[in-house]
Amino acid sequence: MSQREPHHGTTVSSAQADTAAQVAQWLAQARHVCVVTGAGMSAESGIPTFRGTDDSLWSRFDPQQLATAEAWRADSELVWGWYRWRMAGVQRAQPNAGHCALAALAARHGSVALVTQNVDDLHERASSTVAAHVHGNLFALRCFDCGHPHDAPLAPCAPDSTPLRLAPPVCGHCGGQVRPGVVWFGEALPADAWHAAVQAASDCELMLVVGTSGLVHPAAGLPALARRHGARVVEINPAPTALAPSVDWAWRATAATALPALLACLEGSVPDP
Ligand code: OAD
Repeated sequence: MSQREPHHGTTVSSAQADTAAQVAQWLAQARHVCVVTGAGMSAESGIPTFRGTDDSLWSRFDPQQLATAEAWRADSELVWGWYRWRMAGVQRAQPNAGHCALAALAARHGSVALVTQNVDDLHERASSTVAAHVHGNLFALRCFDCGHPHDAPLAPCAPDSTPLRLAPPVCGHCGGQVRPGVVWFGEALPADAWHAAVQAASDCELMLVVGTSGLVHPAAGLPALARRHGARVVEINPAPTALAPSVDWAWRATAATALPALLACLEGSVPDP
């Protein structure tokens, strides 16, 4: 199969409708589906992506100063303040139509494994079950020193437009400093989550890859893995990505337009159980 751009010789809206109908058919036929999401999934909820726009996170901030264990050791107040600012942005955001459609689509299909690189909780708040948060979860706090989970509520955070320095919470177990539950550059992925992601990619007959640039490994290798196991891979992304060699069909649309369109087609093509 070769990658196809679904825009040839027709209006965008009818091409989008054709694409939705085609992908819905593949989805209805697939016994197991894996959906891999990235930052673009939450973009229409107002959460910035990491790359690709002037206001994306890595255009505005230096990951080496904010997203490594070395950065934490050098200046934990800078790092904690930045993550607390991001947590507040996520808490103010709502799941978008794409998150909601994905949850409905999974409930309808019955065998959809959702693997996300996102550290927000918008899939869960849209009632999806997430099989794997491969890059962790902002809110799964733990001690940097002893690893003990930290469940105490956080002090409210003002809705500032820029991050402020903030002292991290203190671990109730050892008195160390509490860190966000995300994977930083140079750290290993959580073993359970990665194992679940590899399993889902290996088992699926259809993989939907939504809103990721495909630049960060090992997660970026999941589409190629699925394809090696015989799956069809469909990318949903308004822009071309590094995943092109691993993708059978590139659906150039946003998450909040494509996924509801897909759900609508599926509801039309699959009888209620
Ligand atoms: P990126 O910011 O690298 O890529 C976001 C992708 O979303 C781009 O390909 C955009 O074209 C696409 N996009 C933007 N708006 C969209 C929309 N409305 N609908 C669909 N797609 C849209 O984000 P990730 O690929 O998720 O790692 O980044 C991977 C990892 O890099 C992140 O998990 C994070 C970061 O460093 C960690 O935090 C460990």
